[in-house]
Amino acid sequence: MKTYETLLDEVTEYAKSHEKKERFEHSMRTAATCADLCRRFGEDEKKGWFAGISHDICKEFGDMELVSLAVKDGLPVSQIERTKVSLLHGRAAATLLQEQFGITDSEIIEAVRHHTFGKAGMGNLAKLLFVADKIEPGREHVTEKYLKKTENMSLDELVIFVLSENISYLQEHGKKIAPATQEFLESLVG
Ligand SMILES: [Fe+2]
Ligand SMILES: [Fe+2]
Repeated sequence: MKTYETLLDEVTEYAKSHEKKERFEHSMRTAATCADLCRRFGEDEKKGWFAGISHDICKEFGDMELVSLAVKDGLPVSQIERTKVSLLHGRAAATLLQEQFGITDSEIIEAVRHHTFGKAGMGNLAKLLFVADKIEPGREHVTEKYLKKTENMSLDELVIFVLSENISYLQEHGKKIAPATQEFLESLVG
């Protein structure tokens, strides 16, 4: 059984060698942001860091490879994923973490698997990775003023805030909102 440190070293090395430089830097910032959020909301910081550093490890994979890894989770491939196969990179990474790195922690797997669209009913670690990916300090819209607004929010308020911004962004850019994302938002505001 490998220790957390060994697994973290391995997955970090993998991320570094399979992501372009800017993406790896985004992954490092997402890991740090996710660990900070875990501390704030009483979740396991180590798991938060691990989920953050590994969430985009498949982002640069080809379509065939993405599909063959992603479908191993047994979930259907949605219309939106069919249209843009790169959107399967979270599901693919969840499979890779299990198959190649032997990760069995269900919270980490869930967080990585659903970080792109979110999912109604997902757990706190998954919510925190979803948020961290979008509010890491390298994101253009994340100003001091923006972060100030989020300071006293509860976890669900924070997720709703980030999701609403994300949805307006998609709408402004004429992009489709995935049903899973819509359901995720509705489950929190309902
Ligand atoms: Fe991603
Ligand atoms: Fe990301």
